[in-house]
Amino acid sequence: MPNRLPGYRPPARWLHWIVAVAVLVMIPAGLVMVQEGLARPVQDTLFILHKNLGTLLIPVILVRVIYRLTHRPPPLPDTIPRWQRRAAALSHGMLYALLVVMPVSGFVRVRAGGYPIELLDRLGLGPWIGKSEPLADAASALHQAAAFLLIAVLAVHVGAALQHALIRRDGVWSRMWPGRG
Ligand code: HEM
Ligand code: HEM
Repeated sequence: MPNRLPGYRPPARWLHWIVAVAVLVMIPAGLVMVQEGLARPVQDTLFILHKNLGTLLIPVILVRVIYRLTHRPPPLPDTIPRWQRRAAALSHGMLYALLVVMPVSGFVRVRAGGYPIELLDRLGLGPWIGKSEPLADAASALHQAAAFLLIAVLAVHVGAALQHALIRRDGVWSRMWPGRG
């Protein structure tokens, strides 16, 4: 029975969906805020949202990575062909790597550029990184390249998840959805 498949533990599910919702806010905010001709107040608001939500995500992602390293995911059902298992392992590995690269490169880009991160500045937490144009430029290039890779991998990830949920209905979706025990 599909719903009887072993699922992810509740913390893995909650961490997945909290990070997923935040990333799905971060991506459009990032893409829109860099557009030319945007009204200044809109651009400023999006930048503040993007920088501060992204910074808040760093400890959450750290917890998620540590949790993943200390808890094996449940085995996939036998019905999943080998190439799909490999594709899932590869894409999940890439998503975890990008979840680290994205906020860290963004943080370095902003701090090495000498810009504020309002939340940390309010708390009196220092910049931690000295001003450096070459470092800021390198971090910016990495942030942009990793963003497009993330969008591509996520398109495959969400497509595969929806296919399991709506077409195959093989229980893979319920392994991650918080509603099912
Ligand atoms: C609408 C958006 C999303 C849907 C529908 C979705 C769905 C799922 C599902 C069903 C699984 C479980 C796969 C399995 O049982 O093997 C999963 C795993 C995973 N998802 Fe998502 N996801 C979404 C967004 C995201 C985002 C934005 C990220 C990160 C940027 C992400 C990262 C991951 C990772 C890393 C795993 C593997 C978990 C592990 O094995 O530790 N997902 N996702
Ligand atoms: C999971 C976390 C993050 C995601 C998914 C993300 C995503 C994006 C995306 C899609 C863009 C637009 C790319 C482009 O066309 O240039 C962008 C740009 C940008 N992001 Fe992020 N970002 C994240 C975290 C952060 C953090 C933590 C900061 C800073 C504290 C940050 C600062 C910036 C800046 C300043 C830009 C403008 C481009 C640049 O000047 O390099 N991001 N981000």
